[in-house]
Amino acid sequence: MDVTIIGCGYVGLVTGTCLASIGHTVRGVEKDAKKLKTLLDGHCPIFEPGLHELMQEHFASGQLQFTDNVKAAVKDAEVVFLCVGTPSKPDGTVDMGFLEGAGKEVCDALAEYNNDYMVTIVVKSTVPAGTNRKLYGFLKEQTRAHVQVVSNPEFLKEGTAVQDCMNPDRIVVGGESREAFLVMRRLYDPLVKPEEKFLTMNWESAELTKYAANSMLAARISFMNEMTILCEQYGADVEDIRKGIGSDSRIGPAFLKAGCGYGGSCFPKDVAALEHISRAVGHENLFVHVIQTINKNQKKRFVDKIENKLGRPLAGAKIAVWGLAFKADTDDIRESAALDVIRYLLDKGAQVKATDPKAMENMKQIFKDEVEWSQDPVTCAAGADAVALLTDWPQYTTLPFRKIAATMSSPIIFDGRNCLHRDVMRDAGFQYYPIGRPAVENTLRLKNRV
Ligand code: UGA
Repeated sequence: MDVTIIGCGYVGLVTGTCLASIGHTVRGVEKDAKKLKTLLDGHCPIFEPGLHELMQEHFASGQLQFTDNVKAAVKDAEVVFLCVGTPSKPDGTVDMGFLEGAGKEVCDALAEYNNDYMVTIVVKSTVPAGTNRKLYGFLKEQTRAHVQVVSNPEFLKEGTAVQDCMNPDRIVVGGESREAFLVMRRLYDPLVKPEEKFLTMNWESAELTKYAANSMLAARISFMNEMTILCEQYGADVEDIRKGIGSDSRIGPAFLKAGCGYGGSCFPKDVAALEHISRAVGHENLFVHVIQTINKNQKKRFVDKIENKLGRPLAGAKIAVWGLAFKADTDDIRESAALDVIRYLLDKGAQVKATDPKAMENMKQIFKDEVEWSQDPVTCAAGADAVALLTDWPQYTTLPFRKIAATMSSPIIFDGRNCLHRDVMRDAGFQYYPIGRPAVENTLRLKNRV
């Protein structure tokens, strides 16, 4: 099929590349000249495992093309994805400007070709209930093109986006016409085996499904984070509880890992939006309100724990921060726990030295010279009073811990992602504080074992 993607940001680029890889002809429209040049040079403007290779392969074969010309891009299109931003306004409502602007531009271009066949406009962006219906009304009023609108929320995760896109748990399509569902079914055909993976519903149900999914996942994490308080008080292990409840098929094991708080561009935004959507119809959604409070408290509690266990005041203490990205395998720092944790540490007078394999340049834009930057975790920890691990980068589990302990002023690690091994920490001579798990305390410094 001929597919046009308006907006080659994160979602647009992954979706376009994956659709090209299952045989569709995809034209990506990007208005940002710098980004377009990168794409036309055959490079990928974002870091996402596997995307660059797949993009290059289908760009070279011509299956995937890029342009800044909407009119040329929609000429033969059967399906047009709108993958533009839907930022929140200060009052919490969604700014429809980009979506309406892009929709109108597409329709005006289509109308010029006097096509009498129907074009399906697909809204990938996460939008509040009622947005697709409004967009459809707006396009019908403002343009002459034959269009139908469907909501097709995105469920891919950063870091595994290509894999998620190629092996979706489900594809949700919201709309009002059988014809539109058939077009989408054809589009996704190779990805929806078994058939039950293709779920059709009305616009509003699809829109709310996206908010419900992200809020449910954030709730699971927050529930476990709340359990860590009890675990630490009663001497239980939150990992054992995770296995204990995750093996119940009604609960399942995913998204139950406790830590120093969830982040990213989606969970915080979508949970907050669900609170707003509820308020808009006169309902105080206490549940999503509490999820946000727990997440905020969890980051604060992490710093309080450092302060309590450090054995010296935080003012003037040197704290090495390992990991700045909101999760491993991304350079994205949006709403990352590191933003709050570093801010709290600085407010309490600590000297922060930080490192991250991918996200350091992004974080430098925020903290500039308030923080000292280190290229690697070993240098970062040298001379520090404690390490605070905030992102579960796999390479942090295999570091030369004995060597690191010997170079630190006091060998203490606060593991905000529960990703290090307690026995390894004890052997290396660390005091070790995970979250909601038994700590290793009173360890002798074993510098001579380096
Ligand atoms: C999330 C959803 O998982 C995707 O399904 C959705 O498509 C996407 O938002 C979106 O709305 O676009 P993403 O933001 O890429 O994906 O990140 P996740 O892998 O979901 O992680 C979010 C945060 O939760 C991270 O900070 C991570 O460290 C934290 N997390 C995750 C936990 O603290 N514990 C867990 O068990 C899992």
